[in-house]
Amino acid sequence: MGPASQRAALVQAAAAKPPPGPEPHLQPPVVEVLSAEKSFANGTRALAPIDLTVRAGEFLTLIGPSGCGKSTLLKLIANLYEPTDGRINWWRGDFRKVGQDGRRLAFVFQDPTLMPWARVATNVRLPLDLERVPKPQATPRVAAALEQVGLGHAARSFPRQLSGGMRMRVSIARALVTEPNLLLMDEPFGALDEFTRNKLDDDLVALSWERKLTTIFVTHSIYEAVFLSTRIVVMAANPGRVFREVVIDEPMPRGDDFRTSSRFADLCRELSAALTDASIASQGKGAKTPCAR
Ligand SMILES: Nc1ncnc2c1ncn2[C@@H]1O[C@H](COP(=O)(O)OP(=O)(O)OP(=O)(O)O)[C@@H](O)[C@H]1O
Ligand SMILES: [Mg+2]
Repeated sequence: MGPASQRAALVQAAAAKPPPGPEPHLQPPVVEVLSAEKSFANGTRALAPIDLTVRAGEFLTLIGPSGCGKSTLLKLIANLYEPTDGRINWWRGDFRKVGQDGRRLAFVFQDPTLMPWARVATNVRLPLDLERVPKPQATPRVAAALEQVGLGHAARSFPRQLSGGMRMRVSIARALVTEPNLLLMDEPFGALDEFTRNKLDDDLVALSWERKLTTIFVTHSIYEAVFLSTRIVVMAANPGRVFREVVIDEPMPRGDDFRTSSRFADLCRELSAALTDASIASQGKGAKTPCAR
């Protein structure tokens, strides 16, 4: 099966799935940010106290002017930073709950950060090697992760032989191979052309639906935020804070029907207005207005 037909099969399989059980607001919290704030040693107050609950199955997007603390918030949620005050709960407990059954998290950065000397399959296997998963068990998991991102045929290629979009797919496969329940993505498709980005967005919608992933995603693109998300948190800067929320209550999985609908255009307009307000509220102190891609 070629990559295009794999993608179609994935979208079809996802479309055949029944809708999830309880309403999103009744799902258990995966991450609770409880008055968490962050200042850096040089005195920068990156985040004022933030309160945010992310529930199972949500696709939550953070958007806002440059410097409003999106990456900082994502790193707090990944436990890469300690909050200066307040705290974060993961699966209603502390970070030690991560790694238990059904409580895994994975992080995808803007740069795919692949090992150039290693083949694609070796790159994807890295997290399993770090966990000392024996090769006979790791190999089928790597193959499955590569199939899921439509790169089953590229397992033996080197990163330099792949396009930018394919390299990002490898990076996503490397995250999926750990079978995460919570996926954190910081502008993963920001460096890609619009056509490739739309394709990866389509796949991500299908994947997160299929795998019942909880996803926290950062982007500067209004279109991408509206297409992917069940909820969008608009942030303002100086200091970084939650400014407004926009709920996208459109059925999942989504495709071109949604992307070309008047409802999509209306939601993009609503989000664009919220971003303009957030930029004004950021008082322009070094904050740039986000562009619509
Ligand atoms: N390690 C650090 N040390 C000091 N200041 C930092 C550090 N990391 C981030 N900052 C500052 O914290 C603020 C928030 O930065 P952050 O990278 O989270 O913003 P962002 O919303 O992700 O921006 P962008 O959209 O440009 O990626 C900025 O003022 C930034 O300069
Ligand atoms: Mg950032």
